[in-house]
Amino acid sequence: MKEISQEDLRERLVAGESITLLDIREMDEFSDWHIHGSLNLPMYNAINAGQHGIVKEKMREVTLDADKPVVAVCRMGNTSKVAADALQSMGYDAFSLIGGIFRWSNAWTEARISLSTAKDSTLFQIRRNGKGCLSYVFGSNGEAAVVDPCVDVSVYTSIAEREGFKIVHVLETHVHADHVSRARALCEATGARLSMRDNDRVQFEYNALHDRDEIKVGTITITAAATPGHTMESVCFSVDGEVLLTGDTLFVENIGRPDLEKGDAGAGAGARALYDSLHNRVLKFDDDITICPGHTSSSIGFDGAPIAGGLRDISQRIELLRTDKEDFAKLIPELLGAKPPNFERVIAINEGKAELGWLDPLELEAGPNRCAVK
Ligand SMILES: [Fe+2]
Repeated sequence: MKEISQEDLRERLVAGESITLLDIREMDEFSDWHIHGSLNLPMYNAINAGQHGIVKEKMREVTLDADKPVVAVCRMGNTSKVAADALQSMGYDAFSLIGGIFRWSNAWTEARISLSTAKDSTLFQIRRNGKGCLSYVFGSNGEAAVVDPCVDVSVYTSIAEREGFKIVHVLETHVHADHVSRARALCEATGARLSMRDNDRVQFEYNALHDRDEIKVGTITITAAATPGHTMESVCFSVDGEVLLTGDTLFVENIGRPDLEKGDAGAGAGARALYDSLHNRVLKFDDDITICPGHTSSSIGFDGAPIAGGLRDISQRIELLRTDKEDFAKLIPELLGAKPPNFERVIAINEGKAELGWLDPLELEAGPNRCAVK
């Protein structure tokens, strides 16, 4: 039986290799979160109950290309070894994914977003495929800004090196609740300046941004737009008026949830603030502006297509944007699902009130994105 690491699998999928991803977890876990393009044949419980014959039985339900490698995926990479063994004996070139969907949380890809007005500038969307977090690298004239870094620092430094950028700014759209921010670590590694909106939450030094403050990166101007709601210090960043980084205020498919900072009791007030931010700030930008969000709730493909959309399309698509303020404030608290795993501890770390210590951030972060309303 062969095993494959998260990194090897990621590289092979990015290179366009055709691989059958066979997720053997039960259906509810699969529908919660899975690797893009996976096939679900639930057999996790049966295998753990000793029914190893289930693999052959389940394989009769599908027709797989016998020439394609098959990667069995489970929670942690143990049960999938049994499945990969059985698949191997059936003649497949089978692998078990080391660390399962848990370790896959670290997998990432990049997508290039073209900017028409800023000709000497480049924008990369760095996506944490295993979790749905989206971060950004803007380069212009040899300088770069990184927004909401959510994967290992080395990912950003190696992209900057490849592109000939010096990372001079690191920006945060808000205090994150679903992943350990890599912003301070990235600043330490590069000497970049950390900026976020003026707030009384964090206990570390940062450059405090106020509404309409500007930051220059090469020839690009990044302008802050204060958008309280998801959290009270949330801010969107307009890039030369052509791209709007909306953090967790507005996504491509839905909007951010307002209960992760102030809890369930604060959800109504948060929803009212979010309504005002959406209608008085975000929707006031030009219809043609490209919205680049901080998350997606859908699994991210390996085709390099950015998760982004025009403001016009998004505002027509998301029905909640057409409700009035009172209905919005009433509806939002009813649309809140489970909160992100370990969110209180993650927030404390991101506020500088607790230390990650030697803990692998993955221990706190693994799991699907839950920053959006349902
Ligand atoms: Fe968030």
